[in-house]
Amino acid sequence: MADCLQLRCSKDAAPPFGQEVREKLFSLRKDLVFANHGSFGTVPRSVSEAQRRLQDEIELEPDKWFKETSEKVWDLAADAVARFVNAQPENIALVANATTAANCVIKSLSLSENDSILIADHTYPAVCHTVEALQESTRAKIISHIFPYPVQSEDQFCATFLSTLESDASIRLAIIDHITSQSAMVLPIRKLIGMCHERNVDVLIDGAHAPGHVPLDLEALGADYYTGNLHKWMYSPRGCAFLYARRDKQDCLRPPITSHYWKRDFRERFMEQGTRDFTPQCCALTAVQFYQWLGDLDSIPRYNCKLLDDAMPMLASMWKTSEQELPASMKAPGMRLIEMPLPKGFKTSCAYDVMKDLAHNYGVRVLLPVWNERIWCRISCQVYCQSDDYVRLGKAVLKWYEANSKNDEA
Ligand SMILES: Cc1ncc(COP(=O)(O)O)c(C=O)c1O
Repeated sequence: MADCLQLRCSKDAAPPFGQEVREKLFSLRKDLVFANHGSFGTVPRSVSEAQRRLQDEIELEPDKWFKETSEKVWDLAADAVARFVNAQPENIALVANATTAANCVIKSLSLSENDSILIADHTYPAVCHTVEALQESTRAKIISHIFPYPVQSEDQFCATFLSTLESDASIRLAIIDHITSQSAMVLPIRKLIGMCHERNVDVLIDGAHAPGHVPLDLEALGADYYTGNLHKWMYSPRGCAFLYARRDKQDCLRPPITSHYWKRDFRERFMEQGTRDFTPQCCALTAVQFYQWLGDLDSIPRYNCKLLDDAMPMLASMWKTSEQELPASMKAPGMRLIEMPLPKGFKTSCAYDVMKDLAHNYGVRVLLPVWNERIWCRISCQVYCQSDDYVRLGKAVLKWYEANSKNDEA
């Protein structure tokens, strides 16, 4: 059945990035400026077609899939992911998403009230809540690293992290983002992992935004645990992610759902979670093929980065606001922040409404995260974007600004 997952367009040359990729490979609405790939991604048609082919094949004889074939296809997909992220195959398990992987690690720890978990003020909310839930049941403490603002250098960032790490000797696990969600910062994870390990603190790297966005070499990185989504920057159907665990950390890990295989090897434990559709995870196979066919890590992040390097100063000048201050090494290739132009007295609590207003009435999808008492505009770039998208985005936000300033004056 793995044949259905083979990318059908792989013999053709990939179209040039920009409008042609958008029209030929993706289904995005023509009139939409889509600058929010970072939240839910968008699945290329050829990858969705592979998933549907597999689903159709399964329905010809469902029992055959569940009893005979699924494990083999699952294994092929997990192997493809392991090769892509440079991990030993036995250290990679496929999961539905980064939230599931974080739940697995956090809930498998046996902590007591004498232990602590280190998170940060930029940790993804669902992951924070998982830690809070563990706190309710174990009384373990939560220590939060407050990011410096602005981040001036990796050294400054690491110094503030170290001071939080050293503030409490009871920290057992540090949860560190590879690329933060609300602030789009690439953290110096190699250095941070080193600091934690010197102090016997285990590390879970939350790389929800990393696969396909930045190169990964998980065995060389040496994190105890690492999770990455494939349904963001790797073009897989939603519900496709992985959990890496170093060999010596695997035994205690249990999937949040206990099912038939709970005592098998690390990878297999995650396969059987009750009866469900795990075709998204099997499509990791197709997603890796698609990514490599389209341009791979050589050209995809480079294209996104160049487009944003040009777009951000253009928007800053159009909006008369500033791009987030960050050292070059901490800028994400495909995701950047700029301050939103806001009418006087505009409250940060309105960010969500503004986001909806921009989408419904101005045709642009962006994320408007709030931190450091500001509303930021998080702008994503993907191979289907082109410079004109950012000009349209800029003008749409200005129109919104003008309309809302007039309302203020009225
Ligand atoms: C840093 C980070 N961690 C975890 C997640 C959760 O990902 P998922 O919803 O796929 O579980 C996200 C989602 O955007 C994220 O940005």
